[in-house]
Amino acid sequence: MIGVLVSGEGSNLQALLDAELPVVAVASNREGARALGRADEAGVPAGAFELEGFANREQRDVTMANWLQEHGVRMVVCAGYMHLLTPAFLERFPRRVLNVHPSLLPEFPGARAIDDALAAGVETTGVTVHLVDEGLDSGPVVRQEQVPVEPRETLVERIHAVEHRLLPRVVEELLCAP
Ligand code: GRF
Repeated sequence: MIGVLVSGEGSNLQALLDAELPVVAVASNREGARALGRADEAGVPAGAFELEGFANREQRDVTMANWLQEHGVRMVVCAGYMHLLTPAFLERFPRRVLNVHPSLLPEFPGARAIDDALAAGVETTGVTVHLVDEGLDSGPVVRQEQVPVEPRETLVERIHAVEHRLLPRVVEELLCAP
C-alpha cells in the first residue's frame, strides 16, 4: 500500500496510477497542487497539509504520517514533493520512503537539477530513485538511469519520460521484495 507525496504537477503520481500500483493516499504540502486533482480523478483519498496550519514542521509531518497510516500506507513515494521530511516522519516508515530526482545523484541535488546540469556543461545526466533521509536528495541510491544531455531542447521531456518509466518499475520491485 503506497502513499504518494506531491507538491505540483503530479506527472510521476500519474505514472504510478497508470501502472496500477496500489496507491491508497496522496498528500501534498500545497492545497492547490494539480497532483491532488489527479488523485481525486483516480478516486484516491487526497489531503493537503500546509505548513501554515501547524505550529512547526514536525507537527505537520506527524499529522501527515498519521493520516497516511490510517489509510494503510506502508511505503511512501515522494513524487515532486518539495519539502524536506523531518525524522518525526521518516521514523514512521523506516527505509520505506523513496524519492525520484532528475539527475545522477550525488550530482546536482536540489530543485534546479536539470538547469544545473545544463549550466555545468555535462554530457550525461539522468534520473535517480533513492531512499530518503533528512538531507537534501542525499539518501542511498536504489536505481539510476543515464540520459544524454543532447539534444538539449528535448532534455526535460526525455528526463521526465525516464522518470515515468523507472519510478513505477522500482516501486513495484520493492513492493514485491521480501
Ligand atoms: C520531477 O522531475 C521529479 O523528479 C522532481 O520534481 C519533478 C516533479 O514532477 N523531484 P511531477 O510533479 O511528478 O510532474
